[in-house]
Amino acid sequence: MYKIVRKQELAENVDEFVIEAPDIARKAKPGQFVIVRISRKGERIPLTIAEKDPEEGTITLMVQRVGKTTFHLSCFEEGHVIPDVVGPLGKPTHIEKWGHVVCVGGGLGLAPIHHIAQGVKEAGNRITTVMGFRSKDLIFWEDKMKAISDRVIVTTNDGSYGMKGLVTDGIQKLIDEGEKIDMVITAGPVPMMKAVAGLTKKYNIPTVASLNPIMVDGTGMCGACRVTVGGEIKFACVDGPEFDAHRVDFDELMNRLRMFKSLEGEALKEFQKKHCGCGRE
Ligand SMILES: Cc1cc2nc3c(=O)[nH]c(=O)nc-3n(C[C@H](O)[C@H](O)[C@H](O)COP(=O)(O)OP(=O)(O)OC[C@H]3O[C@@H](n4cnc5c(N)ncnc54)[C@H](O)[C@@H]3O)c2cc1C
Ligand code: FES
Repeated sequence: MYKIVRKQELAENVDEFVIEAPDIARKAKPGQFVIVRISRKGERIPLTIAEKDPEEGTITLMVQRVGKTTFHLSCFEEGHVIPDVVGPLGKPTHIEKWGHVVCVGGGLGLAPIHHIAQGVKEAGNRITTVMGFRSKDLIFWEDKMKAISDRVIVTTNDGSYGMKGLVTDGIQKLIDEGEKIDMVITAGPVPMMKAVAGLTKKYNIPTVASLNPIMVDGTGMCGACRVTVGGEIKFACVDGPEFDAHRVDFDELMNRLRMFKSLEGEALKEFQKKHCGCGRE
């Protein structure tokens, strides 16, 4: 049983949960995730370990409400207990002393990017973080990213805060300034990661993307998280979730994420019909 010790709303539709999970907090490394099951009959959903505190024995998860399970989880408050949190899962980020590393996170992509940037900084790298959001009211964790980065560029699509444009405009700005970039690590919506990979390929900048295919067991047994990387089939839960972004078949990943859209929509509608306003059973 995993108790929620703190919860706060970070932005519209995004909650931060600090969960008591001492064993996971002790072992978790950047890039790893947990699989959460919030009720006995519930589905299992993967969530990144955005932060850990081994002394307090807690991990921090950031959750965006997109469907049935994430809406349901958003109704859980401090003191509530989550039955299953399995992890840490996935391969930890491969970290070296590269030099100048640009960490690029879009929206919820900041969950992996925060933990990865911490590890990359500890290894002695200089870090520029480029964080992108649709608009100012959706921004979160800017202070946390500033605390671990040498420089932070915030982009908003509508220009309501920071630099107007997409995360790729933030990377292009660095390139135009003549910054040498030794490595780019990116996480966020698949079209965003595809665009980042397209840009960095042009400049021959090594790039790693943290992928988010649909996962079920998280242990390499079910095949749900199949992705194609450099023409080879990989399972993101055990071979990843991070891969060489220049070799990932992002179009296939987008198609696979769309496969269950109508069923997911129906499940959410059914859930909202059956439950009270907050969605709690
Ligand atoms: C390794 C990994 C780490 C992740 N970390 C986080 C995280 O830290 N915070 C967070 O909010 N989300 C994270 N996700 C995505 C999260 O798992 C999904 O949002 C969640 O499973 C949706 O469940 P649902 O029942 O609420 O929505 P569903 O009804 O199942 O899906 C609603 C919509 O959400 C999208 N979706 C569904 N599953 C995924 C998925 N696995 N990845 C991306 N989009 C999906 C699709 O567009 C879908 O149509 C991660 C995914 C992976 C694979
Ligand atoms: S989630 Fe089942 S194989 Fe990866």
